[in-house]
Amino acid sequence: MKKLLAISSIVLFTVISLSFVNINEDPGYKNLKILPKNTTHDQMDSIMKHFAKSLGVKCNFCHVRNDETKKMDFASDGNKHKDIARSMMKMTSKINKKYFSHEGIAAITCYSCHNGKKEPTPFPPADKDDE
Ligand code: HEC
Ligand code: HEC
Repeated sequence: MKKLLAISSIVLFTVISLSFVNINEDPGYKNLKILPKNTTHDQMDSIMKHFAKSLGVKCNFCHVRNDETKKMDFASDGNKHKDIARSMMKMTSKINKKYFSHEGIAAITCYSCHNGKKEPTPFPPADKDDE
C-alpha cells in the first residue's frame, strides 16, 4: 500500500509538473482567427512588433483597453482596426503565395506597403519640375 502511494504520488507529481510546462508553453491566446492556435509568446511578440513598426503606431491603434481593469485587452475585437489588420494579413499571405515563392521569409510584408505609415501613399512625391 505504501509502495502504491509512492508511485501514485510520483505520477501525480509528474502530471502536475507537466501541466506547469504546458501552462508555460501555451500562452493561452483566446481569440486567434488567422494565426495558428499554438503561436508561442515569442512569435506573437515579434509579429505584433512588426505590425506596430510597419504602420508607425502603438499597440492601442488596433487593441482596446479594458475600462474596469485599465489593462490592455488584447483578445477583444472592440477596435475596428484589428479586423482590418486581419483582412490585411489574409491579403498579404495571398500575395506571397500567389506571386512569390520565397522559402521562409515572406517577399511582401506589412512594411512593404505601409513603410511606417498608417495609410500607404499611392503616389510618389511630385517632381520639383512639375510644380
Ligand atoms: C495593425 C494592428 C495591430 C497592432 C498595431 C497590434 N496588434 Fe496585436 N493583434 C492584431 C490582430 C489582427 C490580432 C489577432 C490575430 C488573429 O486573429 O489571428 C492580434 C492579436 C494579439 C494578441 C493575442 C490576443 C488573444 O488572446 O487572442 C496579443 C497578445 C497582441 N495582439 C498583442 C499586441 C501588442 C503587445 C501590440 C503592440 C506591440 C500589438 N498587439 C499591436 C493586430 C494588431
Ligand atoms: C499590398 C499593400 C499592403 C500590404 C502588404 C498591407 N497593407 Fe495595410 N493597407 C494598405 C492600403 C492601401 C491601406 C489603405 C486602405 C484604404 O485607404 O482603404 C491599408 C490600410 C491598413 C489599415 C487601416 C489603417 C487606417 O488608417 O484605418 C490597417 C490597420 C492595415 N492596413 C494593417 C496592415 C497590416 C497589419 C499588414 C500586414 C499583415 C498590412 N496592412 C499589409 C495596403 C497594404
